[in-house]
Amino acid sequence: MQSILALIGSPRRQGNSEIMAKEISRHLPGRHELNLLRLSDFNLAPCRGCYQCLFKGRCPIEDDFETVAEAILAADAIILAAPAYFLGPNASLKRFTDRGLALYPHMESLWGKPAVAVGVAGIPGKEGYTLLGLENFLAMLFADIRARGMIYGALPGEIFLDEQNRETARDLATALWEGKQPPTSPCCPLCGGSTFRFLSHNRIRCMLCSNEGTLTTVAGKTQLHIQKSEHDLFLTREDALKHRDWLMAMKGRFQAHKVRLKTISQDYRREGRWVRPKPKGE
Ligand SMILES: Cc1cc2nc3c(=O)[nH]c(=O)nc-3n(C[C@H](O)[C@H](O)[C@H](O)COP(=O)(O)O)c2cc1C
Repeated sequence: MQSILALIGSPRRQGNSEIMAKEISRHLPGRHELNLLRLSDFNLAPCRGCYQCLFKGRCPIEDDFETVAEAILAADAIILAAPAYFLGPNASLKRFTDRGLALYPHMESLWGKPAVAVGVAGIPGKEGYTLLGLENFLAMLFADIRARGMIYGALPGEIFLDEQNRETARDLATALWEGKQPPTSPCCPLCGGSTFRFLSHNRIRCMLCSNEGTLTTVAGKTQLHIQKSEHDLFLTREDALKHRDWLMAMKGRFQAHKVRLKTISQDYRREGRWVRPKPKGE
């Protein structure tokens, strides 16, 4: 029996993210068990940027990161559902994503885990970069993002006043179980991402895989031509390993330029006055 893990970004119980994840599970054609994990229930501290996880194989922060990582490792497939908060995915997702370097030691076990992502926003079109945030979360899990979608509804339960959202749940379930389906709207031909930045000379960059290309319209149809480059995120296992090696090589680069780098940073040491948190009890 397949074990499906629904990662819920919303702190709201029986909110739209939760019921959408459960609706997707209802449409899964095969026998499975559904496990649920609400990210905001867990104590996930901010990443300290120390890189110890890369060099020592474990994050030094004592919190719930390993518990969440273990649940992800144990799952056969993942449903990720989270709300838009101020044009992006809510913070519990980002907190976990930021700790993603600590998942590198588990890369071989995680690579290619089937996953789907769904974002929920209160107002149609006001989702900002929510979907990109969800996709990025799954990319850091080295997952195979089989489908993604945005749905709309503000009040808890409101998403299913629109029956179309049950169809979206069905489509996401089909993709999760059976594999990627042909895209229904323009997306990055390399990674499926749907968020782009416009560059000069009619060029665009996919904000998920970081590859660049051009956008044309032929017979009223939008066509995206994107070419694979260095440092993309992560179309192949080799890309991910290459990025890990680049990160690991930072230690050597730091040693080689240590004196110069220190001189640059030290020059700014005494500037400005820091606002600090008040000591507890004041
Ligand atoms: C703090 C906060 C910020 C929000 N920001 C946005 C936003 O930027 N765009 C939007 O469309 N909806 C926004 N919403 C609405 C939620 O995305 C919406 O209510 C959604 O259904 C919540 O999902 P949930 O029920 O899973 O928590 C916001 C809600 C909250 C509480």
